[in-house]
Amino acid sequence: MRTKIIAGNWKMYKTIAEALELVKTLHYGCQCNATEVIVSPPATALPKVAEFLKDSYIKVAAQDLFWEDFGAYTGALSAPLLKDAGAEYVIIGHSERRQYFGETNETVNKKIKAALKHTLIPIICIGETLTEREAGQVGEVLATQITNGLAGLTEKEIADSVVAYEPVWAIGTGKTASPAEAEEAHVIIRQLITKQFGNDAANKLRILYGGSVKPANSKELLSLENIDGALVGGASLNAKDFIEIIKSCT
Ligand code: 13P
Repeated sequence: MRTKIIAGNWKMYKTIAEALELVKTLHYGCQCNATEVIVSPPATALPKVAEFLKDSYIKVAAQDLFWEDFGAYTGALSAPLLKDAGAEYVIIGHSERRQYFGETNETVNKKIKAALKHTLIPIICIGETLTEREAGQVGEVLATQITNGLAGLTEKEIADSVVAYEPVWAIGTGKTASPAEAEEAHVIIRQLITKQFGNDAANKLRILYGGSVKPANSKELLSLENIDGALVGGASLNAKDFIEIIKSCT
């Protein structure tokens, strides 16, 4: 039985004061032990959010990292620095990083290895664009992202990591993959992981769905066999909506 994860990716939203207000509402508003809950604030608010949440059931993720540990890399944040600030997870390869910041499957691979080296749990994002879906290339795109992005990892490392399937066309658009489309993609991902890393790793790996998840659709998506949680963008910025999504796990 895989414990479900509900993760909120706040992207480039929330000042420090706004971030603290949101986590306080989440912490006091929903004591949830059956589900792993993660919030991913912008780097500026992460230390304060992590400090407030240090004894909470809610965990903290960074939104990206650089693969070197230290050095002359202006603007970058490494795994040791993010751990020092209180992160336990890190989102890697989000489609917005691929689209606007030149992220590739090869850089994703280096970042995953850097995260694992420092025991930061990677939340690895994959997913196809609308053009790729319309061209019937979903399986092919996911296979390339998995083969190249996860190259060289061990079975145990994969079992302990998290993958998020985020169809690019469903992110921030209000268009959600239908439950059947989402489940189909998650099954493909689990089969690809089985092929590359074996049954045990594939059975343990949590695969989250992301793309316009909201209280109105979360229950149905989260009830599907291969959907082990959600990576929520817009709806995670609002405490009431995010708590409703957390509660829809049970
Ligand atoms: P939305 O929930 O706003 O579509 O964003 C999804 C996402 O990108 C989470 O990482």
